[in-house]
Amino acid sequence: PRVLLLFGGRSGEHAVSCATAGGVLRAIDRAKYDVVAVGITPAGQWVLVEDDPDRWSIVDGRLPEVTDGPAHVLLPQSTAGRGLQVLAPDTVPVAIGDVDVVFPLLHGPFGEDGTVQGMLDLIDLRYVGAGVLASAVGMDKHFMKLVLAAQGIPIAPFMVLRPGDFARNPAGCTQTIEALGLPVFVKPARAGSSLGISKVSSLDDLPAAIAEAQRHDPKVIVEVGVVGREIECAVLGSVEGERPRVSQPGEIVVTNSEHGFYDFEAKYLDEASVELTCPADLPVEVIARVRDLALRTFEAIGCEGLARVDVFVTADQQVIVNEINTMPGFTPFSMYPRMWQESGLSYPDLIDELLQLALS
Ligand code: DAL
Ligand code: MG
Repeated sequence: PRVLLLFGGRSGEHAVSCATAGGVLRAIDRAKYDVVAVGITPAGQWVLVEDDPDRWSIVDGRLPEVTDGPAHVLLPQSTAGRGLQVLAPDTVPVAIGDVDVVFPLLHGPFGEDGTVQGMLDLIDLRYVGAGVLASAVGMDKHFMKLVLAAQGIPIAPFMVLRPGDFARNPAGCTQTIEALGLPVFVKPARAGSSLGISKVSSLDDLPAAIAEAQRHDPKVIVEVGVVGREIECAVLGSVEGERPRVSQPGEIVVTNSEHGFYDFEAKYLDEASVELTCPADLPVEVIARVRDLALRTFEAIGCEGLARVDVFVTADQQVIVNEINTMPGFTPFSMYPRMWQESGLSYPDLIDELLQLALS
């Protein structure tokens, strides 16, 4: 089959997406799949790019980026022949012909949020992962929490700051946030890789934290800072009629306290600051509950294909769902492929399963 790997993109997670593509390009079985690598520049141009995994790695803290070139890609056609053609002026169009399946390795807005998924639905192309609604719900931490809470899944207390809320009534918002209890995490509602997130332990730091989150999204959420271990679980879709599979959970321990939490630097630039353990050293009964909640979270948002569910396990062994990521990172630092590896599914086999699911 012909696979279009789509990566980069317009979100703040552009470089992470490139590194994810590097991981997949290294693992995909080239004897079985004909790979076409298409990068989306930060400005949104689709360009044909090198498929050499080394081009897309994070090396010595340098983040890869898709750069614009003259060879702009015409959106591919499905095998049914449907396609949507968009051309920038003064470019040489490159038609890449028929494609059997797209692997949208895009993180964040304009890629993981249902927009690209909707476009692929329109042109009738199959793709790996969640559809429009699950992608949109998974991207928006506000609506994600509403959906999870409505289905009885435990989440941490939070409040939403809609655009303008804080500017109109800073004292009232501050009071509500104080009542939640410090520390809180201030987050852009729609972003990933911890971009724009601050941990706030003093109300004096609140305005700056809100302004930072708003650089990524005018809608902001403020969450109670749960004290607990950070545990993640990988979920993988099954053939129709069967429930998705859930991996062994992994644990993230940030060993360098300078980071304060598992932030962007700790995730991708300062490997030495984080320990990833899989399977997590937890009592059997807690592991069972974590896996059950991961599965219920996946199903609660109507997810398909894959997702990573992140939870906290508190000292009294409550499990609280932090979030679901519908296109989790596949970088060499990432937990998703690692957890499957520890659960008996190698990285190349995982990629094969994901593509076969999308093709089935
Ligand atoms: N948003 C990043 C890529 C993740 O969840 O792994
Ligand atoms: Mg996320």
